[in-house]
Amino acid sequence: MTAQLDSLGRLRHLLSLETLDRQMIESLLDRADTFLRPGGELPARTSALEGRTVTNLFFEPSTRTRASFELAAKRLGADVLSLDVSTSSRAKGESLLDTIRTLQAMSVDIFVVRDAQAGVPDYIAGLVEPHVSILNAGESHVNHPTQGLLDVLTIRRHKGAFGNLAVAIVGDIQHSRVARSTGQALVTLGVGELRLVAPEGLAPDPAEFPQARFTGLEEGLQDADVVMALRVQKERMAASEIPDAADYFRRFGLTPERMALARDDAIVMHPGPMNRNVEISDVVADCPNSVIEEQVTHGVAVRMAVMEAVMATIHAEATMTPVAAGERR
Ligand code: CP
Repeated sequence: MTAQLDSLGRLRHLLSLETLDRQMIESLLDRADTFLRPGGELPARTSALEGRTVTNLFFEPSTRTRASFELAAKRLGADVLSLDVSTSSRAKGESLLDTIRTLQAMSVDIFVVRDAQAGVPDYIAGLVEPHVSILNAGESHVNHPTQGLLDVLTIRRHKGAFGNLAVAIVGDIQHSRVARSTGQALVTLGVGELRLVAPEGLAPDPAEFPQARFTGLEEGLQDADVVMALRVQKERMAASEIPDAADYFRRFGLTPERMALARDDAIVMHPGPMNRNVEISDVVADCPNSVIEEQVTHGVAVRMAVMEAVMATIHAEATMTPVAAGERR
């Protein structure tokens, strides 16, 4: 994988949370915290990315990730291009490489990339010029690092330290990049217990989650501090594998009766988009303990923190004296 950090340990790209250490994750969360305002309003504008250009390249659908990257970049003072891939020259057969080169020739500083195929953000990070940064905005079922960061920020703001927490992730874990990235961040931050509750046929290889405990639904919810529901990812399944919605809800839907097993102050999370009354009931999605909309707000702050960090690295590298640059080699 392309290195995410430079030789001084500074964030250069954000491709995965798997190799980020606790200090780096906490510093991004701390910075994101400073952008948040008490009433939940959008963060104040800064000029940290003035004169920079951020390009959204989403080869898969998105509402919240794409919109929040765009808002975050604008709040930092950047110019933003959001390429409509369906009407771009990709539709005329232009290769991904030529698309990147074309946009790079317009002085793009950050590409925000979402793709259905694993490896694409890393591939792009390996071919862009040294002053360009790649941010992974969702990669097949394997990585969604900014979602992982906004999830742990949301948990930290409600629950404080992670060491005594039981976090239950419930649903289609096999196809979920959120379960992987959020799970990795939770483990790095020292979560007390990570419980994974997956219906039959939607469980991942346990080797992918060596520090998690796989449980049934009732055991997973019992006294949990945090319950996160996941969407059934139909777009990653063959038609014959897609569960019947009513049957899924009956067997695995988060209902008030099932949530009563969790602690009274357990927060309810969902990365969105939700399939209401499939993986989560209307009542639970909209209950007072639901922090689902807060997760979205926190996404803007997290993405500001990440973009500010990579641009600070690139600025520092560009302004290094030749002597210092030589010493580094
Ligand atoms: N959570 C998430 O990635 O949502 P979108 O697909 O709407 O970006």
